[in-house]
Amino acid sequence: MNLLTVKDEPEVFKGKSVLLRVDYNVVKGGKIGDTYRIDRTLPTVEFLLNAGTKRVVIASHSGRPKGRERSLSLKPVVKYLKKKLGEDVGFVEDVLEGDPPEGPRVVLLENLRFWEGEKEDDPEFARALSRFGEEYVNDAFGVSHRRNASVHAIAQYYGKRYAGLLMAEEVDALTNVRDNPERPFYVLFGGAKVEDKIPVLEALVEKADRLLIGGAMAYTFLKVKGHSVGSSIVDEGHLSWAKEFLEKNGDKVVLPKDHVCATAPAKECGKGYEVRDVEGEDIPEGFIGYDIGWETVKSYREELKKAEMVFWNGPLGYYECEDFECGTKLLAIFLSAFKEDGKKVVVGGGDTVAAISRFHIPYEDYHFVSTGGGAALEFLAGESLPGIEIITKKEG
Ligand code: 3PG
Repeated sequence: MNLLTVKDEPEVFKGKSVLLRVDYNVVKGGKIGDTYRIDRTLPTVEFLLNAGTKRVVIASHSGRPKGRERSLSLKPVVKYLKKKLGEDVGFVEDVLEGDPPEGPRVVLLENLRFWEGEKEDDPEFARALSRFGEEYVNDAFGVSHRRNASVHAIAQYYGKRYAGLLMAEEVDALTNVRDNPERPFYVLFGGAKVEDKIPVLEALVEKADRLLIGGAMAYTFLKVKGHSVGSSIVDEGHLSWAKEFLEKNGDKVVLPKDHVCATAPAKECGKGYEVRDVEGEDIPEGFIGYDIGWETVKSYREELKKAEMVFWNGPLGYYECEDFECGTKLLAIFLSAFKEDGKKVVVGGGDTVAAISRFHIPYEDYHFVSTGGGAALEFLAGESLPGIEIITKKEG
């Protein structure tokens, strides 16, 4: 990796204030959801404190607020950071007003998206943010695909822009998957929409020995292969893309062999439908596929056993509901054992990480769990990410 990281020049931070951009897009309804994204940035905060930094000013967005939405305030994160860091943590409610605070060595800014300038990549908003740090560190891999002021326009106010420790790990792990995967390399894809995944599917199928598909996107592929899919979700707008993709890569692509279905839409988990196991690829009229079946789980496990590296993105069914969680859960558990055998499983994408968390599997049981959703997929698709582009490159 050729990005300049905080570890390359620790002496720079001594006695200075540092603006540290992170991705704490985890606050919803006034509460912190999963803490993984916060926890993964703590080593960078601690590194900067140990390097003798005068103050670390942490900046993030959360959600997509329209103005100041109280339920999306980052205030709840202050208490959590205090507990984890064992440090007093200050809070700045208005990032445009007043002087940067004196006092605590760690300060958190209010949700940057409360100000339009953040989303608009406004240089004046970025200039206001730059008051908070003599140096700038980007540890916000998860939002590095967005052209937002704090990850993009901000660059012009700093001679050098450093990568945080998490950013460096993300770039290393995902570059390994994208450019140089260990072989055999297996890709496991789920999730609902084909559309969001087209560029990454096209990029990864080139490298992969096998591409196993589950989740709602499987029904789109089954339909173009001529199977009946009942009333399952199909991405009608991308049928011709799916057909072409299968024609080109059919020898690598593996689709579900059976299904767990509902007899009516599972609008509310456990209510208004019956659960049916459906043998074979075809789903009868009136049934809706919500999970891969047991035969598929067994055959995917047999396939995955052959892998040295697996990239997994997207749940294999409607895992939020117990009736349809088995496919995702069984494969998540199965893949969590690979690390012991020295095999790499890299997990990417918000929903996949949420599923692992729901099943109480420690993230450490996988080789690498990315904090990026859209950012990880764009990176793997070979796209250039504005928040990474602006980081200073190492010389030589
Ligand atoms: C994410 O969670 O993917 C990032 O924080 C970006 O959020 P956004 O999709 O609202 O820009």
